[in-house]
Amino acid sequence: MNNEQYLERCAQLADLADSRVGDSPRVGAVLVYQDRIIGEGYHRVAGQAHAEVDCLASVRPADRPFIPEATLFISLEPCCIVGRSGACTNVIKEQGIKSVVFAQRDSTPGVNGESVAILEAAGISVIEYPEFKPTLKVNAHRRVMAEKGRPFVSLKFAQSADGYLRPADRKAAYWITNSISRRLVHRWRANTSAIIVGGRTVVEDNPSLTTRLFPGRDPRVVVIDPRNRVKGDEKIFAGNQLPLLFAGTERDDINAEVVVAGQELNKAALTQVLTRLMEQGLGHVTVEGGAAVLQAFINAGLWDEARVFTGNKPFGDGVSAPVLPASARTTSALRVGSDLLEVYSCS
Ligand SMILES: NC(=O)c1ccc[n+]([C@@H]2O[C@H](COP(=O)([O-])OP(=O)(O)OC[C@H]3O[C@@H](n4cnc5c(N)ncnc54)[C@H](OP(=O)(O)O)[C@@H]3O)[C@@H](O)[C@H]2O)c1
Repeated sequence: MNNEQYLERCAQLADLADSRVGDSPRVGAVLVYQDRIIGEGYHRVAGQAHAEVDCLASVRPADRPFIPEATLFISLEPCCIVGRSGACTNVIKEQGIKSVVFAQRDSTPGVNGESVAILEAAGISVIEYPEFKPTLKVNAHRRVMAEKGRPFVSLKFAQSADGYLRPADRKAAYWITNSISRRLVHRWRANTSAIIVGGRTVVEDNPSLTTRLFPGRDPRVVVIDPRNRVKGDEKIFAGNQLPLLFAGTERDDINAEVVVAGQELNKAALTQVLTRLMEQGLGHVTVEGGAAVLQAFINAGLWDEARVFTGNKPFGDGVSAPVLPASARTTSALRVGSDLLEVYSCS
């Protein structure tokens, strides 16, 4: 196995983290002795053990004597600041590890290359892979936050085989995707900090927007309701968390944190929403519909990734699915049972 293959494993481990890691980096680590993995770990909960510590804790007693001779692979530069958990550079030195390989530097002020200097000063060999793509992808939300000053925006919707988001009869109950896709969506929900939906979706579908089909924390529910359609008796207002409601005008009749955001659904309004979410520490958000809200994010260019399911049944007529710009790039397309799942990147 070569360095890239072990870093690929680090990326897979980093990706296991769910929303408990918050906006902190998603990091995986692998400890390798004589081409054998003797430890693996990842950063699971913000403020708790970092990937390096989790990895070292997984080493069996019989393998512990090999730790100083092993190479530590990490998806991200180890930290050197004593925050809520200790500095990983100290842990590495204390364990006597002599070789560290990581992918990207950690842009956090106070780290960004500082850890490399600390390790090298201690005689530890450090190899970096700054362009390594799998690890870049895992922390794409942090890059968007730093460079664009807004959360990473993921769009998600399901369309019928003939491209409708729902049938023409707005009262009809309907399913587009199969049970495997639905469970996958709940898994994604456990990985996102907030779900955004439009007011009409709340009224017409009355969704719960929880992770009930997959173990994990429920994301914050955010409703964009410029025309004050929600009534307040829908399921989301009876959940454990207070939804964040961007209303057209003041509402004191709703069990929600209400922000008066005006009656427009345009780029300025959506920028206001995203700025507010960023202020609340919600760095990865998923827009789950409906058509108007999804299209507004697309038209404003305020999105990073789109996950589109296509079911195998046609509706014949209905609410048309949003249209992505021609510049959207397909990054993957795969079958999920009877459904097709396509993932697009904004650029
Ligand atoms: N298949 C899927 O993945 C999926 C996912 C979610 C939802 N859906 C379906 O999508 C449907 C709802 O979609 P939708 O597009 O009707 O609504 P929506 O996106 O859920 O909500 C948008 C809200 O913004 C308002 N709005 C629209 N254009 C506006 C503008 N230019 N200025 C100000 N406000 C504006 C709408 O007002 P009005 O109330 O006047 O329209 C509506 O209240 C639901 O029936 C649901 O079943 C499907």
